[in-house]
Amino acid sequence: MAEILAVGEAMERALALLESGEVVAIPTETVYGLAGDATNGIGVARIFEAKGRPRFNPLIAHIADMEMAERIAVFDPLSRKLALAFWPGPLTLVLPQRPGNGTHPLVTAGLDTIALRMPRGFGGDLIARLGRPLAAPSANSSGRISATTAHAVAADLGARIKLVVDGGATPVGLESTIVKAEEGKLRLLRPGGIAAQEIEAVVGMELLRGADAGVEAPGMLASHYAPDAAVRLNAGTVGEGEALLAFGKRRAEGWQNAAACLNLSEAGDLREAASNLFAYMQQLDRSGARIIAVEPVPFDGLGEAINDRLSRAAAPRDNSLPPT
Ligand code: TXA
Ligand code: MG
Repeated sequence: MAEILAVGEAMERALALLESGEVVAIPTETVYGLAGDATNGIGVARIFEAKGRPRFNPLIAHIADMEMAERIAVFDPLSRKLALAFWPGPLTLVLPQRPGNGTHPLVTAGLDTIALRMPRGFGGDLIARLGRPLAAPSANSSGRISATTAHAVAADLGARIKLVVDGGATPVGLESTIVKAEEGKLRLLRPGGIAAQEIEAVVGMELLRGADAGVEAPGMLASHYAPDAAVRLNAGTVGEGEALLAFGKRRAEGWQNAAACLNLSEAGDLREAASNLFAYMQQLDRSGARIIAVEPVPFDGLGEAINDRLSRAAAPRDNSLPPT
């Protein structure tokens, strides 16, 4: 079983494991990441292996500072503006790679672009000490809900990895927002921990939505973040034996009969709801209910990312698709 060490005592052990091509689960401000040295092919391959990822989807390379970022990728003015405004933080930028930048081709699944993010806290410190970028997808088995606590990581991946660094519950609770610059415009590839409106306010233009050609973020296919239970969205009533994922003050009809009930945010606060989303889905899943009914969540601000993750959890399960 994986060792669990608090952030204050984990640095040297984490460095030693990464240096020897092992993977380490680390806290970031969004969700826990399963990190490996992005320049070491064995380390990167171990990430896919530990997650049981059916295919090699591209991973985010996490960097410690702008100097490291500029060595790996070419920044256009819009992307640089966003990096200045939101890094470190829950924003991922997809950028053209600099040839020979040292990252292993498995990180980008052979694409000529690379996704970069500068995480806050322990992850950033670890990358600075290592002096190399860390490839890290969310620390969960392929297709499952992203882990927001060290306990959730250990319960899922504990038998397959050596170390989980415990930084407590992740504050944002949703993965990063992914954006890509395209000829002077910005495209939202994945809604996430920074609301699209916050980005639009910084650049003074609307984000393009949807992939223009094929699937731009290959991990963003339908069935994803799947609990064992079926998920029923926009529930106005609660059926016999269903668990209820509630939001706000008004309850769905029949809520008193729910097998279990958790409220994402009693106050209707979308930031609080985002931080509770994955942990509550996991708790309701453990209640044994066959169906999790979900009350409507508004789409503004972080509601876009919350609804995105909920609709993936509710999508028909098809294991031939490559989830992240
Ligand atoms: O908050 C987060 O982003 C977390 C923490 C650990 O940093 N990481 C995370 O990674 O969510 P992952 O692997 O679960 O999701 C990364 C997404 C995938 O949908 C992948 O397809 C997309 O990023 N992606 C990676 N490289 C890309 C590229 N070059 N072009 C387009 N999409 C890319
Ligand atoms: Mg993931």
